[in-house]
Amino acid sequence: MQVIVVKDSHEGGKKAFEIIEKMMKEDEVNCIGLATGSTPITLYQEMVNSSLDFSDKVSVNLDEYCGLEENHPQSYHYFMQEHLLNHKPFKKSYVPDGMKDPDEAIKEYDDILENCPIDIQILGIGENGHVGFNEPGTSFAAKTHLAELSESTIEANSRFFNGNEEVPKTAITMGIKSICDAKAIVLLAYGKSKAEAIAATVEGPVTEEVPASSLQNHPNIFVIIDEDAAAKL
Ligand code: GLP
Repeated sequence: MQVIVVKDSHEGGKKAFEIIEKMMKEDEVNCIGLATGSTPITLYQEMVNSSLDFSDKVSVNLDEYCGLEENHPQSYHYFMQEHLLNHKPFKKSYVPDGMKDPDEAIKEYDDILENCPIDIQILGIGENGHVGFNEPGTSFAAKTHLAELSESTIEANSRFFNGNEEVPKTAITMGIKSICDAKAIVLLAYGKSKAEAIAATVEGPVTEEVPASSLQNHPNIFVIIDEDAAAKL
C-alpha cells in the first residue's frame, strides 16, 4: 500500500486526480470505478475543472440503495449526475439498479463488470471499515450482492436523510472480490472519524471484520488521507 498523507481534502482530491491523469496518459484506461459519499467530492471537482476528456471511457459505481428511484436526491445515481456526470459525461455510466428485483440487478451488474474490467477504482471508507456497502463480516470472495446496512452505517448516512427511519436498510453493492479485481485502487479518507478504520485497514490484521483490510493484498493501491485520518497510524 502506498500511503500518502495530505493537508486536507482539497490536496487529497488533487493527488487522486494526478494519479488518474497519469494512468490515463501512460496506460490504457477504459473503465473507472466511482464511489459516492462526501469524501470523493473534491476529486470530482478536480475532474470537472480539468481538460481531461472521459467521453470515450466507461464508469461503474460501487453501490446503490434499494428502493430509491434514480431521480431521488439521495440516490447514488443522482449524486453522480450532480457531482460529476452532468459536467463530465462518460461514454457509458453504470450504477446498480436499486429499483429492480435484486437478483436481476445483481446478475446484470456482474455481467457489466465482466465485460468491462475496472482499471482504476476510487474508494471512500466507512467508520467501521466498510467499502461500498461491504459491511464487517462480508466474505472477501463476494461479487455483487444485496447488503444489509449496519446500524452504524445507517446512523452515519442518516445525515443526508430526515432521520434514521428514512435511510434504506439494504443496498446493491459490488463485492470485495469485484473491487480487488480492479487494476489500481485509490482509497480516500479525511477526518478523525476515519482514523480507526484507516489504522485497521493499513496496519491491522487482514480480516473480514474490517472489509477494507482486504486491500492490503492488492498489488497497486494508493491510500490518500489527511493528518486526522492518519492519526492512529
Ligand atoms: C457510504 C458509501 C461508501 C462511502 C461511505 C463513507 O456508506 N456506501 O461508499 O465510502 O458512505 O461516506 P463519506 O465519504 O460521506 O464519509
